[in-house]
Amino acid sequence: MINTIILAAGGSTRLKSKKSKVLHEILGKKVIEYVLDSCDTISDKKIIIVSANDKDIQSTFADSNVEFAIQKEPIGTQNAVKSGMHLVDADSVLVLCGDTPCLKKETIEKLYEIHKRECNKLTMLSVHMENPASYGRVKRVHGLIDRIVEAKDATEEELKIKEINSGIYLFDQKELSRLIDRVDNNNVQKEYYLTDLIKIFNEEHLKVGALVATDESEIIGVNNRVDLFHATSVIQKRINTGHMLNGVSMVNPDSIFIDCTVTIERDTLINQCTEIKGDTVIKEDAIIGPHVTIENSIIGTGVEIKNSTVLDSEIKDGTKVGPYAYVRPDSKIGKNCKIGDFVEVKNSSIGDGTKVSHLSYIGDSDLGQHINVGCGTIFVNYDGEKKHRSIVEDHCFLGCNSNIISPVKIGKGAFIAAGTTVTKDVEEGALCIGRVRDTQRKDWVKKK
Ligand code: UD1
Ligand code: CA
Repeated sequence: MINTIILAAGGSTRLKSKKSKVLHEILGKKVIEYVLDSCDTISDKKIIIVSANDKDIQSTFADSNVEFAIQKEPIGTQNAVKSGMHLVDADSVLVLCGDTPCLKKETIEKLYEIHKRECNKLTMLSVHMENPASYGRVKRVHGLIDRIVEAKDATEEELKIKEINSGIYLFDQKELSRLIDRVDNNNVQKEYYLTDLIKIFNEEHLKVGALVATDESEIIGVNNRVDLFHATSVIQKRINTGHMLNGVSMVNPDSIFIDCTVTIERDTLINQCTEIKGDTVIKEDAIIGPHVTIENSIIGTGVEIKNSTVLDSEIKDGTKVGPYAYVRPDSKIGKNCKIGDFVEVKNSSIGDGTKVSHLSYIGDSDLGQHINVGCGTIFVNYDGEKKHRSIVEDHCFLGCNSNIISPVKIGKGAFIAAGTTVTKDVEEGALCIGRVRDTQRKDWVKKK
């Protein structure tokens, strides 16, 4: 049996943020949520998060059966593990850092296999890094792991070591409980280092082993904003590769940011500089981008969206959006519609085949099918105090530059002449025209 302790009580000083580094988001999930995912198959359902009684961390996992332990003061990783040990009831303890979001499930599974196969009392995950910066260095003697030296305590010679400590370990629970208090804080940072246990286990002649990971990007610890950027790139690449292998085409995937919560069906094309967030589903054969933001929306088969933003809305099959359209929350746009350039739609429904081709605002209204909304049409939904809804029935024609002063109902097939300000309901099939007549003065320019 394995229990997992995830360490998340550190001060996050290097990230220079008001919130813990483990709560920063990467493509739809918090850093620590990725860590949780990486161990969910291995840890017999018992996962213990050690935090500084951080309510935001606790509320992130309010609906799961994660258990919480509190570290009173961030005096080191040894003390953090110690703070969670009273909740452990398994014979092996997996320790993960809450700030390593790129770690893969398979790597933890391999670590466990080695731990079992070699009958180790402690197995750690290390990796070779060209530029090991501030990571702890793994010191080996005759090829065997001897101890870990933190970068801040290392000599010039030790700093040259390229095998680093990932901060991920599997311990025999009995030996960990017995030896954890032997760690002192006799080091540059005056912290209690969990890493000192490697040396202590060796002194006790307990078997210590390591899995040397092959991919250094798995080990990234999000200590500062540069690390956050690197971790984002790694996860972005994994997500995009997954979609491409599932039949989604991408133009310049490095510029495409897709949350891990998004579903995209095959034969859809995602163009450059596009972000797709939240609970979004994009069906087959869509063309999305360039320069598109979509959040929490359902995008139908064959929809095309260019240079536009779509938030919390639904766009049905075959509709074209953009360039430069803004579809705001709670909009439902039917099949084969057109939402063209500089059109804003908010909290409105638009029926199949309706075209809003240019420069319009449709707010809080329900439009039927096969309506033509002329250029410059505005739904005047706000009277300074309240919002009002209008209804436009099927097959209407709204001429250019109409103002629809809500609330009104425009009956089926009615025709609104260009430049009309509609203030009352319009009957089915009627013409509504309301504009100042234009007059001409002959030779006015010459005479003025
Ligand atoms: C740690 C390791 C280092 C390793 C690196 C890998 C130690 C002493 N060093 O360094 O060898 O290369 O991880 O990423 O362990 N934490 C607490 N309480 C504390 C201190 C830290 O819960 O008192 C948590 C942090 O929130 C973090 C994790 O433990 O999630 C690691 O701590 P951090 O300060 O990031 O350690 P590193 O300096 O990165
Ligand atoms: Ca770290």
